[in-house]
Amino acid sequence: MIPYGKHHIDEEDIQAVVDVLRSGVLTQGPAVEAFERAVAEYVGAKYAVAVSSGTAALHLAALAAGVGPGTSLITSPITFVASANAGLYAGAQVVFADIDPDTINMSPESLKDVLEKNPDARAVIPVHFAGLPCDMPAIKALADQVGVDVIEDAAHALGAAYPNGQRVGSCAYALMTIFSFHPVKAIAAGEGGMITTNDESIYRKLLRLRSHGINKLDDPSQLPEQALSEGVQNPWYYEMQELGFHYRITDMQCGLARSQFKKLEKFIARRRALVKRYDEAFAGMRNCSPAQAMDRDQSGHHLYVLRIDFDSIKMSRGQLMQELKSRGIGSQVHYIPVPAHPYYRRLGFNPGDYPNAQKYYQETLSIPLFYDLSDEQQEQVISALKSLLS
Ligand SMILES: Cc1ncc(COP(=O)(O)O)c(C=O)c1O
Repeated sequence: MIPYGKHHIDEEDIQAVVDVLRSGVLTQGPAVEAFERAVAEYVGAKYAVAVSSGTAALHLAALAAGVGPGTSLITSPITFVASANAGLYAGAQVVFADIDPDTINMSPESLKDVLEKNPDARAVIPVHFAGLPCDMPAIKALADQVGVDVIEDAAHALGAAYPNGQRVGSCAYALMTIFSFHPVKAIAAGEGGMITTNDESIYRKLLRLRSHGINKLDDPSQLPEQALSEGVQNPWYYEMQELGFHYRITDMQCGLARSQFKKLEKFIARRRALVKRYDEAFAGMRNCSPAQAMDRDQSGHHLYVLRIDFDSIKMSRGQLMQELKSRGIGSQVHYIPVPAHPYYRRLGFNPGDYPNAQKYYQETLSIPLFYDLSDEQQEQVISALKSLLS
């Protein structure tokens, strides 16, 4: 079975994990810091904080931006539920800004409207869907006008770049950017996430929040009378200064992630070549077209998404997925609009309020895209789809 996405592990990756296991340090050690430094340097951000998942990264980023009760957090309806859940974890209202029908990313026009209607907005989380960067100059300008912080959800977009060439993660248009290292993503840590930022006080807050809210680096003590004895720091002393979490990542995971990270450019180059071949193969087809066919050189190419006119092929999406499966080809839908999930419906959301997301959802199908997908396998996918869709 050819899956829709898959990680690639080589002997170097295995050795990297073994090296950590033999090093005597399993967590909070040098592999975490080395991975943080490598990513910060690559994306062009001052600071990076590695955490246990992309979801943890979103939660901490929302808290660090001041998202909480009495505020709202704006995100895209076409994303994994974690982008929106970050707002709920923080006790805020979630608000969705509909997508642009061409890019599948948050539409700046819709964001403008949502910002006008939600003066309590504290943060906006644009999602670089499938790796294609959002229109960040427009989103940042709108957010700045009303003093709302931007947190980029770049779970799909490690290695992607803005039109000016700066890398996603540099925080050129955001207070923070988050990444995920789940195995289907650009690089795998098993599970893992990261937040990048250029703001030192945010960085310090993220370090505290990652580890129970306990003071880090040279954070001053809040209770010097407990911290000091005759003016000297008590050697055992630490302070929990705010309510934090245990969202730390292990050195084993970071050993793997760092080894994977060295191959990022190679991974993306292969994905880009596969995307080019798919684009050529599906160009001019009557019943289907590639989503996000613009700006291919900017994308991290996390997913390859087709938009299919299921009415005209006289087959439902479920039937098509079944037909593909019987030919050994996996496919998936990214995503069910977040407001359509029962939990969000119970909160009062109506998926019909986001017509572009709703239309996109009716038509979308992700087909296999990953580093190890061979040319032969790709041709198998193309010919199966061409015969089923003609
Ligand atoms: C857009 C997006 N944001 C956030 C996440 C959460 O990342 P993680 O699975 O590492 O918690 C995902 C994961 O699939 C995602 O696709």
